[in-house]
Parts: sequence; structure tokens; C-alpha cells
Amino acid sequence: EVSPENVSSENLEDFIRTLQTREGWSQPMVLYKNYWCRPHLVGKIILLQDIFKPRSSDIILATQPKCGTTWLKALAFTIINRSRYSFSDHPLLSSNPQYLVPFIEIPDPGRDHAYLETLPSPRLLSTHLPLSMLPSETSSCCCRIVYLCREPKDAFVSRWHFENKIVKGSNIELNKALDMFCEGFSPSGPFWNHCLEYWKESLVRPNEVLFLKYEGIKSHPEESVRQLAKFLGVPFTAEEESSGVAQEVVKLCSFENLTSLKVNQTGGVDHGNKIFVENSVFFRKGSVGDWANHMSEDMAEKLDRVVGEKLKGSGLAF
Ligand code: A3P
Repeated sequence: EVSPENVSSENLEDFIRTLQTREGWSQPMVLYKNYWCRPHLVGKIILLQDIFKPRSSDIILATQPKCGTTWLKALAFTIINRSRYSFSDHPLLSSNPQYLVPFIEIPDPGRDHAYLETLPSPRLLSTHLPLSMLPSETSSCCCRIVYLCREPKDAFVSRWHFENKIVKGSNIELNKALDMFCEGFSPSGPFWNHCLEYWKESLVRPNEVLFLKYEGIKSHPEESVRQLAKFLGVPFTAEEESSGVAQEVVKLCSFENLTSLKVNQTGGVDHGNKIFVENSVFFRKGSVGDWANHMSEDMAEKLDRVVGEKLKGSGLAF
């Protein structure tokens, strides 16, 4: 009998076949360790446990997809590397933010997990995995984690658009997508459990886990950038403050600026498994409250009610 404990590259396929499978989103997903994910990811997650060696200097940007990963990658990359690059000749002007910060569970095309171990410290990494799926040393080694979450209705609408865009011919109905999302069935979902795991950890280890909201960065971008810089151990100096570096970071990473760049309008990356991810797919509206243009009052109430119940008593609310 194959179980998570004895699964290896030889019996991986057998193991994946034992997992509950469900269809409905653009691709079938399996339930692995209480979260829904694409089947091909399971092997990568298992492999990661042995290969990924967290370092105390690591910085991990954790998100659920569609909660602002691209933005957080741009901001953290710019803050950390601000003495290396000038704003006028910056890697963000020629690279999509997604590819400046590697995912630990999804190796960049042509690379494998071992590549991460060749990166010099401090490493800036990212993940969509829930905290419970990261190697346990991630917590014990005290590396820093920045978690970014988003108001669930906006995250849901963003996900729905993305699903219909990323797989050709996919045409999921909004109502059906909402039912699935509310049942906890969404990529990286249940949505609320993913948030709650990091939320609780941020209360226990506030110096190591910073919990941010997309809406918070939108409404106070400069303050958020300062907070991020401080948390990452590279606060702005008085000189930087007076020369407006925080404003420059905000401007460089803004939705308006990034979407105006050719690199984010053209090209893309082949991830295999029939998924070609266009650089432009990470940018859509970039606003707060776009759900109201898609969801009826009833739909909004339903999702609010479900999420409200799940988060009850946690201190986390949207
Ligand atoms: P919308 O679909 O609501 O527009 P992720 O990067 O986790 O996949 O999230 C994608 C969402 O973040 C999309 O939301 C996208 O438009 C938005 N986004 C991307 N870059 C952004 C930026 N620089 N500022 C604000 N939002 C951004």
C-alpha cells in the first residue's frame, strides 16, 4: 500500500491514483494533505521535502494564486536589491516579476529543485504551498515568511478569469465556480485554511511571519513598502526617505507601470502539461472590489457567509 510516508519516484504514479480526484476547474485536481492541487505538483511537493534546505537567511513570499503574488514579488525584489540596481536600468523593466523570484515547488523551466540550493544567500523565494506543506525546518530555522492574502471575492473573481484564460477553450460558469470555491474546492484551496495557517503562525512568530493584505498595500502603498523593508531587515535610511525611495519602489512596481512594459505584454513560458503561461496573464485589472462587476448580491453574500463562518474566532477578517 502506497502512503505519503513511503512514496518514492517509483511508486509516485500509484500514489497519485489513490488520491481523491475532482474535476470542475480548467484541469482535474487531487486532494493532497487536505489541499487541492494539480496532480503533477504532488511529486514535486514530495521531492521538495528532501531537497529543499531552508536557510535562516531565506525570505519566502507565500501566497495563494491570484492574491497578488506578482506584485509582492516585484516589491520584495526591488526592496532587497535596491542598492544593486538603479530604477532606470532595473531587471523589472525587462523581466516579468514572476521569473525574478523562483517558486520552491515549481522549478523554472529547464531547472530542477537542486538549482535552489546553488543560489547564494540570502535567497528570495516564493511559494503557493500552505505552511503545513513546507519542510518543517522552514519554521525551525527561523527564515522569514511574508504572506499576502486578498479579499476572497476579489481573489475568486481573479481566479475565475485566470482559469478561463489559461486553458484554451475553458469556459467555466461563474456560478459553478463559486459553488466549488465555497466548498473549499479551488486550486491551493480551501482558501480560508491556507490563510488561517499563515495567520496563526504570524500571531505566534510575528518577527518571522508577516501577514499582509492586498487591499492594505493598495490603500497605503508607501507605508506597506516601508513595513516590508523593515521586516526584511533592510529599512530605509533617512537619506533614502528624503530622496523618495519608497515612492520610487511603489511606482516601479505599480500595476500601471508593469502593464505598460513590453515584457509584460508579450511572450510567456511553457510550463508543460499543456500549460503555456503568457506574461500578460498575471495582470488583469489590479483593483480592489472588481467582484462587484461580476458577482450578484446573492453570490457575494454566499461567499461572505462561508468565509465568515470559517474564519470565526480567528481574529482574521476581510
Ligand atoms: P485581478 O485579476 O483582480 O486583476 P497573482 O499574481 O497572485 O496571480 O495575482 C494576480 C492578481 O494581481 C490579478 O488581479 C492582477 O491583475 C493583480 N496584479 C498583478 N500585478 C499587480 C500590481 N503590480 N499591482 C496590483 N495588482 C496586481
